[in-house]
Amino acid sequence: MRYISKPIKRVDAEIKVKGRARYINDIKLPNMLYGAVVHPKYPHAKILSIDPKRALRLKGVVKIITHEDIPGEKNVGVVKKDLPVFAYDKVRYMGDGIALVVAETQEIARKAAKLIEVEYEVLQGVFDPEEAMKDNAPKVHDDGNLIVYHKVRKGDVKKGFEEADIVIERQYKTQFVEHSYLETEGVIAEVMEDGTVRIMGSIQNAFSTQKDIARVMKTDISKVQIIQTVIGGSFGGKDDIMTVMAARAAVAAKKTGRPVKIVNTREDSILESYKRHPYRMYYRLGLKKDGKICALEAKLIADGGAYASTTPFVTWRSNVQAAGPYRIENVKVDTYGVYTNNNFTGAMRGFGSPQVNFAIESLMDEAAHELGMDPLEFRLQNALRDGDTTATGQRLTHKVSLRETLLKATKAANWDKKRKKYKNQKKGRYLKGIGLASSLRGVSLGAEGADAAGIEIKVEVDGSVVVEMGLTDMGQGIKTVIAQIIADELGIPIERILILPYDTSRVPDSGPTVASRATTIGGGAAKEAVNGIIETLKTSLKEVLHVEKIEFKSGVFHTPKGKVTFDEAVKIASSQGKPLNSIGWFRAPSIHWDEEKGRGEPYFTYVYATQVAEVEVDTYTGKVKVLRVIAAHEVGKAINPSMAKGQIYGGVAMAMGYALLEEFEIRGGIPKTLNFDEYLIPTAPDMPEVIPILVENPDPLTLYGVKSLGEPTNEILAPAIANAIFNATGKRLRELPMNLEEVFLGKKLERS
Ligand code: MOS
Repeated sequence: MRYISKPIKRVDAEIKVKGRARYINDIKLPNMLYGAVVHPKYPHAKILSIDPKRALRLKGVVKIITHEDIPGEKNVGVVKKDLPVFAYDKVRYMGDGIALVVAETQEIARKAAKLIEVEYEVLQGVFDPEEAMKDNAPKVHDDGNLIVYHKVRKGDVKKGFEEADIVIERQYKTQFVEHSYLETEGVIAEVMEDGTVRIMGSIQNAFSTQKDIARVMKTDISKVQIIQTVIGGSFGGKDDIMTVMAARAAVAAKKTGRPVKIVNTREDSILESYKRHPYRMYYRLGLKKDGKICALEAKLIADGGAYASTTPFVTWRSNVQAAGPYRIENVKVDTYGVYTNNNFTGAMRGFGSPQVNFAIESLMDEAAHELGMDPLEFRLQNALRDGDTTATGQRLTHKVSLRETLLKATKAANWDKKRKKYKNQKKGRYLKGIGLASSLRGVSLGAEGADAAGIEIKVEVDGSVVVEMGLTDMGQGIKTVIAQIIADELGIPIERILILPYDTSRVPDSGPTVASRATTIGGGAAKEAVNGIIETLKTSLKEVLHVEKIEFKSGVFHTPKGKVTFDEAVKIASSQGKPLNSIGWFRAPSIHWDEEKGRGEPYFTYVYATQVAEVEVDTYTGKVKVLRVIAAHEVGKAINPSMAKGQIYGGVAMAMGYALLEEFEIRGGIPKTLNFDEYLIPTAPDMPEVIPILVENPDPLTLYGVKSLGEPTNEILAPAIANAIFNATGKRLRELPMNLEEVFLGKKLERS
């Protein structure tokens, strides 16, 4: 293999580094108009009237678009169709869109949006998920505030706790988090001569957008074309919020007969967009004195905000992973997703794992402390092993790499020596500590939905290759990975492969590019597509050379009559009129989940990881400096080790923000942090030394044994840091972010 497992340069590196990549905001169509959204004054209110007169008087304003202009369905949504394109009965959060002002320039549109007069009847809101669960709580939607409920049941929890020598009960809490993609959301919509609705934009999951736009525009899915422009980051964030934006632009384009562009300012982006779910997590753990875990009970409550979005799926992943990667005979988990009048919450890198991992991995540390055991020793004793059964009752038939990641990460961290050293450190202003956290993570969508992808390869007569795929490159590098696979499987130079931009009217519907699934599912599809081409070329050579047996190896066909290169074979097949295109399809192995029983096989395979964090706490200010992170991730197989390490660096940076700094603050439904002056994310000087360790145990069910990496890197550093802070100071923090106040005072200061 010339490319696979090599640190190949990204295929899109140059256009990005040299500033030639065309993002949505770089694109300007002739005769284009600009849209700006009118947002509400209250988080929960009936809309009594909308008066556009003052806005329409402004020169350059072309039209005011409201729900009345929508030709079809008024709601969209990934799981539940509850997300209005334009609010039509009431507003449910401060980021709702009441109307879209369309004008000749962006400045005029934004100015006019402030002149729209809306009359409201203010309704009592609900801003706390546990309040929202009460019978007498204000209803966000008519059918009540419960979005979803999931459970896990294994063994007999009551009996398990009776057998326990020690029972510990703890509560953990996490915050709203912003995705902080550098590029804010943007789309351009136009209605073509033939009535086709064409949308370009920074859209992560174009197929789900396409389907919803067809419903909103009352047209066939085939007449909606979504062209994905270069995406400047997404992290799960450019999903259904992009559908809403695209729908608004499409309605406006239809109404005005001109292309309409909407690009968010940073403030509008943070105001409108969905966040990572805040969780309240209540855990009980039963332990034997010898360190065995005999029972685990957990109740998880996720704030879904105003709309369901992916809450049913996010909470489902939390639910099935809530017991962590441990051997536990008796498990009971109850998980709730709840509506409130806060910003809605949805997909974000990790997708329900970072929250439960913070809880379970902090809890494991607390358990080890109660038992007087070293946290590593305690985890090694209880870690899932080959052939074990998970909390949902799934027998693990692949290589369970958890202990390997634990041992490799702690060896690289010099765990035993550091624990001793920090235990005996002199008490002063600065205290050092070391902590670890581990995880298992289900690969790909699991029982969330149809898990398949297609890739089409077209070979030109000169042997160069064009690839069409419906998988999104939002910076993670899937284009490069697919190019590496096709180049090696065809035995051609990677430079001869062109991957076309993703356009729903051309590429096979490959589902959403989420759940760290692109390499696993797309890789399988790429290999199938290559197989199709090779078969055609072999058939053609057999006919021309009159031979029976042909073998293809490293770009050369070996026949009884001699060798034929790939390029020669292509010329021959082409002259014979053979089809030189091929669609490959890969479907994930089937799984089974019983939602009623709370048992089953939610994912076909899992990845495992351990991260170790070393910190220095300034006990005078509460500042936590992360000194070093060792991140050992089992990936099945790394197709591009340098990009894999890049995922680890990025995931660590993002998780450090989650742990120590980031919080989208919202009080009574009113957002307080609408730009990066107040919403703080880590920057380069904050970064610790990061030591990535790739553990490769190929999975028998996937191409080359590849599994997931993007999300796993971002979901265990917060508990590792919490555990390190405890090691340094003896202070146990159970709420994120562990900012200055939390570390120094043990509580948060609220903004007014
Ligand atoms: Mo992702 S958070 O599965 O888009």
